[in-house]
Amino acid sequence: MRIEINNICKDFGNGRMVLNDFSYSGDVKTLAVIGPSGGGKSTLLRIIGGLIPPTSGEVILDGLRVDFTEKNLVAHRRRIGFVFQSKGLFAHLSAIDNITMPLCNVYGYNKKDALKTASALLERFDLEQDAHKRPSELSGGQQQRIAIARAIAARPSLLLLDEPTSALDPELTNEVLAMISELTREQLSIILVTHEMGFAKKACEKVMFLSGGKNIESGNSMELFARPRTHELKIFLGKVLEWKA
Ligand SMILES: Nc1ncnc2c1ncn2[C@@H]1O[C@H](COP(=O)(O)OP(=O)(O)OP(=O)(O)O)[C@@H](O)[C@H]1O
Ligand SMILES: [Mg+2]
Repeated sequence: MRIEINNICKDFGNGRMVLNDFSYSGDVKTLAVIGPSGGGKSTLLRIIGGLIPPTSGEVILDGLRVDFTEKNLVAHRRRIGFVFQSKGLFAHLSAIDNITMPLCNVYGYNKKDALKTASALLERFDLEQDAHKRPSELSGGQQQRIAIARAIAARPSLLLLDEPTSALDPELTNEVLAMISELTREQLSIILVTHEMGFAKKACEKVMFLSGGKNIESGNSMELFARPRTHELKIFLGKVLEWKA
């Protein structure tokens, strides 16, 4: 997907610019967004996904300018899958119902087709045995994999993942990353906010370093990690990679 973000500013009404004349453009298959806490990563994802409007600036996806009026955002959001850090599942519904419910209620599937789609996804990601369990009966990693299956069930063209592994133990993190890695082979563009630098480098084609509300540096991930150009990114990578084996 061609993503163009032009001169986005966002303040939440307290005078502080969370995104400050932020711009990015590129053909995105998999884009990892990295950067320090509070830099504006989640805010950027929420704007791209049409959950909140920017204060100024524009988002253009495959040549179409996102219209941030509430009426048009409904259609925009339907083309996008979201997964957040945690607690995204409906607690009172089983895993399979978590997937079928939005398909029926938001996307107009009949119950039979929704069940077929959900069962195929659960099977594909080795989650069939969890189909009838509620979120509280699943591990954090299983819950996130169900949340990802739900997010791609209606075949969105863009999947937005906001730190999907940050609440998980290393072992569970790896099973979720393996699932995301498999998704990168599909006809689907992915933007992933992550602190997993190894995954950003090896599994994502492109990386953007977002700090202080600005796109400080972005490019091909292998290249960017091997040869960061800006002082800010060098400092950031020095800090986050300090204790890595
Ligand atoms: N709804 C809101 N109202 C007011 N301020 C907000 C709101 N949402 C975010 N902010 C502020 O915007 C700044 C950027 O937040 P954001 O969540 O985008 O950062 P982030 O890069 O995702 O950080 P983290 O890595 O900790 O998740 C923070 O200072 C935050 O307090
Ligand atoms: Mg965040």
